[in-house]
Amino acid sequence: MLEDDFGREVTDVRVSLTDRCNFDCVYCHNEGLGDTRGPMDPQGEEMSADEVIRFLEVVREYGVEKVKFTGGEPMLREDLEEIIRRVPDGMEASLTTNGSFLPDRAADLKAAGLERVNVSQDALDAEAFKEITKSGAYERVLEGVRAAVEAGLTPVKLNMVVFEQTAPHVEDMVDFVAENDGLRLQLIEFMPELVQNPEWAIDIDRVHDWLEERADRVETREMHHRNRYFVNGGMVEIVDPVENREFCENCHRVRVTPDGRLKGCLNRTDDLRSMGEMTREEIAATFEATVKNRVPYYGAYMVQNEDGEWVENEAYAVPESEDAGSA
Ligand code: GTP
Ligand code: 5AD
Ligand code: SF4
Repeated sequence: MLEDDFGREVTDVRVSLTDRCNFDCVYCHNEGLGDTRGPMDPQGEEMSADEVIRFLEVVREYGVEKVKFTGGEPMLREDLEEIIRRVPDGMEASLTTNGSFLPDRAADLKAAGLERVNVSQDALDAEAFKEITKSGAYERVLEGVRAAVEAGLTPVKLNMVVFEQTAPHVEDMVDFVAENDGLRLQLIEFMPELVQNPEWAIDIDRVHDWLEERADRVETREMHHRNRYFVNGGMVEIVDPVENREFCENCHRVRVTPDGRLKGCLNRTDDLRSMGEMTREEIAATFEATVKNRVPYYGAYMVQNEDGEWVENEAYAVPESEDAGSA
């Protein structure tokens, strides 16, 4: 297993299969690429199934155990089931989706070998859902969640980004996962970088306090040092990269953009060329270089000055690469 200079082993990869999406969520950071893209307007060429699998085969050799497919909306890829079927042995595949295509495909995904699925669900209220996602697919997403549970893609984690518009809906969601088997809730701290309305952020510590009061038990997960609260038999996890000092220190993921560039962190763009046309040896070397350049984002790369503002630590600025600018 490869380890970076901060002692973080890389156990997971997160592959964004497309930046196209049939929703247009108001908070979307588009997997760290920014929210400037039109929702159905891809920025570059998407990796083919063969290219994705070649990459996974190379990193499997380095001991990577898990792959998460994401987007945009990864289910816009017609070949998603094929990709999942070809994931190398010994690697667990999961998916993060907006859920709108799950009613028709959950069973096929399970048959292809998918372990589990995370579905964005920001409010149990059709109107609020529409305002946030700019989509009328509220009922369809709920149907998709049910289909995923029935297909055994469990635990199905519901992803809820907590910010001004969704904060009033947190309580309903906590009750919902307590009342329905197979579900868990992930409350996600709004990440202000790369979005148009950073002022929508709210203090995630208020949510921790609220859950702490109601929880029978609290656990801390190794990945990202995330807290898990058990409330009325339901599990609620908080994903808090900005406020949780131990989140980035415990990050074990490397990411791949839809056009096949490796990123050591969601919020940093390493200056590397696309892996699409690389040989296996070149992919291996690029993976090693990416791991070497990894820096915990909040806390090492971005530090708070005396006024509490986040500023860049120049010692860890993204290194220029020989490949900069190509492909
Ligand atoms: P699993 O628990 O393994 O399913 O992964 P996950 O919770 O990370 O999955 P998901 O893809 O559903 O991500 C949920 C939220 O966490 C999203 O908002 C991601 O942007 C955020 N997130 C996941 N990994 C990272 C990370 O490494 N860094 C940061 N800053 N945010 C992350
Ligand atoms: N802040 C926090 N989470 C975000 N997501 C998208 N944009 C943001 C943001 N600005 C989350 C959504 C989705 C996941 C892939 O990323 O919850 O489930
Ligand atoms: Fe972004 Fe996901 Fe919403 Fe699509 S569903 S706009 S990718 S957060």
